[in-house]
Amino acid sequence: MKVMVIGSGGREHAMVWALRRSAQVNEVLAAPGSAGMAREARCLPVAADDVDGLAALARQEQPDLVLVGPELPLTLGVVDRLQAAGIPAFGPTAACARLEGSKHFAKQFMEKYRIPTAASRTVASLEEGFQALEAFGLPVVVKADGLAAGKGVTVAPTRAEAEAALRQIFEARVFGPAGDRVVIEECLAGEEASVLALCDGRTAAPLLPAQDHKRVFDNDEGPNTGGMGAYAPAPAVTPEIMRRVQQEILDPVMAGMAKEGTPYHGVLYAGLMLTSDGPKVIEFNCRFGDPETQAVLPLLASDLSDLALACVKGQLAGRTVEWKPGAAVCVVLAAPGYPASYPKGLAITGLTEAELIPEITVWHAGTDWQDGRWVTQGGRVLNVVARAETLAQAVNRAYQAANRIQFKGMHYRRDIAQRALVAGAQAAR
Ligand code: AMP
Ligand code: GLY
Repeated sequence: MKVMVIGSGGREHAMVWALRRSAQVNEVLAAPGSAGMAREARCLPVAADDVDGLAALARQEQPDLVLVGPELPLTLGVVDRLQAAGIPAFGPTAACARLEGSKHFAKQFMEKYRIPTAASRTVASLEEGFQALEAFGLPVVVKADGLAAGKGVTVAPTRAEAEAALRQIFEARVFGPAGDRVVIEECLAGEEASVLALCDGRTAAPLLPAQDHKRVFDNDEGPNTGGMGAYAPAPAVTPEIMRRVQQEILDPVMAGMAKEGTPYHGVLYAGLMLTSDGPKVIEFNCRFGDPETQAVLPLLASDLSDLALACVKGQLAGRTVEWKPGAAVCVVLAAPGYPASYPKGLAITGLTEAELIPEITVWHAGTDWQDGRWVTQGGRVLNVVARAETLAQAVNRAYQAANRIQFKGMHYRRDIAQRALVAGAQAAR
């Protein structure tokens, strides 16, 4: 099989890695891919948001399967285009990708199909927003409706901060048309977890639950990022919670989307708050999570290409997703200044030494190969991923590898998975 991956980050590098492990995959293409992937995939210079270019590339290369990494091409309809060209594409259509592309759409859908989520109201002007705030307690959450590169959400502890967030969106137009509408919602309390599921239009098969670390500094301090690390499986999602997620969230999404005439294929990512009333949806994403995928795919024993094809063809029912024992941890090495502005072109050393450690993989999220050396190219630079028999061992191994890598001003969180380790130690006492 010839398989094409769309995207260029650490998540896509992990997807390429998993596909290369399949006995039935003999060629992997990546568009645009990255220098870090080039050893494992033939990279083709078409941008991930160039839907016309990607459709033309796929017609030319005729892959047996395309997997789409990022949300933007999905919301722009790349899967619809590939399907129209007769190319099997793993991912939701544009109509389905609205679950991520419009928070208002997701909220309406959840309300209609009684899927547990925070109470909310959608507003379309500053005045309406100010008025709606009356109905909510504090803290209150203000969300731009459209895609905002992970920056569209403000959890406001005070009324003044909620009003300031509304002004930013409606007056300063910081998110442009993505802020034409705003969802105001109740703030949920609890632990967050991510459950990603493979979907074939009718059946949703959950992957191992994972936990992301969104804040830049240890102990969840500092500003939000694209994700500073992840681990799987997340013990906070107990088998009982997983059963509820399937029954109360995943199954109703599948049934509801089918009923709307837009059956959901691809990955459905449920960002959850584990509240005292049970799991509630904070957000849906229409794709693999980044960096959750980097912690989940190393544990997948089943063949990813096989599962993805089953999703495309509607043949997931009755199949089991097999897992390797143990746990996996992903530590994100970030550029100085990230998530604010950061320099590029810093020389990276120690990659080979890090990868000498057994069960370590280093995926490239934002690097380039220039003049015979690796240099930084993005904010999230590298993903150091370890698999081991226990979570504690995986954490130790990941940090052992991370310590061997260096670039000027590099920073990373030292407490990835710490919450689960502490909870586990307490439970054992
Ligand atoms: P998002 O950009 O949608 O991933 O949201 C960013 C973060 O905002 C989430 O990871 C949560 O920590 C927080 N958040 C979003 N919605 C809520 C909510 N209703 N209650 C509490 N926290 C929330
Ligand atoms: N890890 C969060 C995301 O992929 O959106």
